[in-house]
Amino acid sequence: MLDDPDRLSRIDPSELMGTFSSLPEQIEEGLAGVRDAAWTHPPSGRVFVVGMGGSAIAGDLAHALGRWYGGVEVQVTRTPRIPPYVGQEDLLIAISYSGNTWETLSAFRQALGRDLSCLTVGSGGELAETSSTQGVPHVFVPPGFVPRAALGYLLAPLLTLLARSSTRLEKALPGALTDLGRIREEWVPAVPTEENPAKAIATALEGKVPIIYGPPPYAGVARRWQTQLNENAKTLAWHSILPEANHNEIVGWLEGSNPERFAPVLLMPPSDSAIHARFQHTLALLEERVPVTSVPLLSEDFVTGLLELVLLGDLVSVYLAVLRGVDPRPVGSIDRLKAANREGGGEGSSAEGEI
Ligand code: F6R
Repeated sequence: MLDDPDRLSRIDPSELMGTFSSLPEQIEEGLAGVRDAAWTHPPSGRVFVVGMGGSAIAGDLAHALGRWYGGVEVQVTRTPRIPPYVGQEDLLIAISYSGNTWETLSAFRQALGRDLSCLTVGSGGELAETSSTQGVPHVFVPPGFVPRAALGYLLAPLLTLLARSSTRLEKALPGALTDLGRIREEWVPAVPTEENPAKAIATALEGKVPIIYGPPPYAGVARRWQTQLNENAKTLAWHSILPEANHNEIVGWLEGSNPERFAPVLLMPPSDSAIHARFQHTLALLEERVPVTSVPLLSEDFVTGLLELVLLGDLVSVYLAVLRGVDPRPVGSIDRLKAANREGGGEGSSAEGEI
């Protein structure tokens, strides 16, 4: 079914498959667009990313890269309030592709009220407007995408700050983008299912609730897989982290009822990593009860491996959408919820506190 090009173009008429595949080009274009911007010096403190959904994922990936390469520390908050410990030495980056997400706007306004250094990223909306009136630098990303399909553009400003604070990352980035462009050729629709890991994984997940496990540095990638499966394939899916899940979830897997409803996917750590054996043992135990999909790390180099897994998960989610016969683009449920919040007045609340 996945090898039928007519089916693909019928089910994915807006060609999200191609848009997700353009991740390396989006990053390159995004990096070139901000190269000479005035804000590209990393702060002396930390970077706090505020955002939700497909926009916030850019922050998760930046967090992982900052931690791995020792660049500026990046923290992500997905709440309408900013943490009390954000200080004058920090930089707050509000990312909202639409520029109209309530949580992000609320956190941004709070940051303005506290006179914090800010940068905003999006394709317009209130975020761009407020930035302009308040004199906050704004990175415009191209319009016309769904937020989750503009990841490369949203990530580029963060990569710029990170690369300026880590020469190791700066050096690794061009090669990573080249490798990404090369490996995606193995996952494109023209490669038949027997030779195409993206199609094979989607096939294994059909009819199940996928649960994606990743090692801590790949937490953002595991979340991306989950959210792409949710939004593109319109399926329940969750993500979790190993080895932590060895201390709780494993009991449910081995001793709970009906595990066959679920499909564990293990994003494997490098074979020389301290936790590789934990993953192997978990795999063996899970296989006593359910089929397990194990996804090897495709490159030893961290940024390359990270981006490759992101792209692989994106394509898996579109192939699963094709198998399920659902258009990957619309997310009517998110739109309904946003509309209900606007109409119900929830978005105007000025109450203090985290919730
Ligand atoms: C839609 C998507 C959503 C949005 C989220 C926040 O493609 O991925 O998760 O990203 O609803 O909206 P934005 O990104 O516009 O702030």
